[in-house]
Amino acid sequence: MIRWGNIMALGIGIIGAGGISRAHARGYLQIPDEARIVGVADILEERAQAAAQEWGAKYAFGDYRELLTLAEVDAVSVCTYTKAHREPTVAALQAGKHVIVEKPMAATTTEAYQMVEAQKVSGKILMVGLKWRFMPEIRAAKAFIEEGNLGQTYYAEAMGWQHRGIPGGTFIKKETAGGGGLMDNGVYTLDAVLYMMGHPKPLTVSGTDANIFGHSPDGTWNINDFSVEDFGAAFIRLEGGITLFFAHSWAINFSEQWQIRIAGSRGSVEVSPFRSESKLRLSHGGYSDLQDVTPDRLPEGSTDIAYEIKQFVRAIREAHPSPIPGDTFLYTNAIFDGLYQSSRLGREVSVSLP
Ligand SMILES: NC(=O)c1ccc[n+]([C@@H]2O[C@H](COP(=O)([O-])OP(=O)(O)OC[C@H]3O[C@@H](n4cnc5c(N)ncnc54)[C@H](O)[C@@H]3O)[C@@H](O)[C@H]2O)c1
Repeated sequence: MIRWGNIMALGIGIIGAGGISRAHARGYLQIPDEARIVGVADILEERAQAAAQEWGAKYAFGDYRELLTLAEVDAVSVCTYTKAHREPTVAALQAGKHVIVEKPMAATTTEAYQMVEAQKVSGKILMVGLKWRFMPEIRAAKAFIEEGNLGQTYYAEAMGWQHRGIPGGTFIKKETAGGGGLMDNGVYTLDAVLYMMGHPKPLTVSGTDANIFGHSPDGTWNINDFSVEDFGAAFIRLEGGITLFFAHSWAINFSEQWQIRIAGSRGSVEVSPFRSESKLRLSHGGYSDLQDVTPDRLPEGSTDIAYEIKQFVRAIREAHPSPIPGDTFLYTNAIFDGLYQSSRLGREVSVSLP
């Protein structure tokens, strides 16, 4: 903690000063009585210095391990690319710092597991910055399912067709991102569908992934860097007799469409996050009397990263559990691992969990 006059604020370190770190910083800068950014670290030291100056932070480092030696740092935001999430997260937890790490939590199940284990040993908060967990529609749908309104849940789908959305930079390289559109976008819908259903265990996956447009000469990214998938689809068996269809693209010759739907014998939930209206549809009833029971009022929440940062800071200050615990991401990583393996082997595989 750091004292400013009468104020005791959490000391914050930001590791990785690229694109998304700006949203984290904005979140902390909105609550100066609760948290202050003390230091920034990036392997590109000039980037760390520029960010530290802009955010009023005292320290800038080219090596995050120096940031972790500072006693006034209570918590860190890990905003590095996905393949570099595990190392600083584990080191920060071992140094006794609370951590919020960007989505996807990790590039592989092994990495995710090591992060979760480090959290257990440290007793500190490990929160994953998966902003959709705070989406009012997702919260409403989850509560509806928990109240038992779906009867027997048997089918779910998590899809995100981006029409033209291939990013560039570190997102398109396997060695920095770990995966492509399936992971980068797919983690949102896959996490949402598993979260809403209460995390049923994945059993098997049969999937394909492909690079359809990654080497198109008319794109805006560097095609020589492109080493991930831009498309993937999978059929996943979950415990409890639930079938999950999961599919994502960064670019497909369809119109843009994202949806998460869960069907049960007595009802359904449908979330279309990017529709301008009717993002949520809840239904309940039987074969001939199914009713639309979507409520007019939704629970409080927001997908603004500043909101997520506030939940992180308040959980630390008020000694609450992690608002989005790391261990709730082991299944998503296990499904990704299984999907890539299945695609390579050309057959269904068992999902292997640590
Ligand atoms: N929540 C969201 O809405 C959202 C949006 C975009 C990206 N993301 C996620 O955020 C993460 C970062 O994305 P980005 O767009 O900021 O990427 P980026 O490439 O712009 O920034 C990553 C930064 O991390 C630095 N870095 C890498 N390894 C490091 C290390 N060991 N120590 C210190 N710094 C290191 C890089 O030099 C770079 O400056 C990814 O996991 C991505 O999936 C989340």
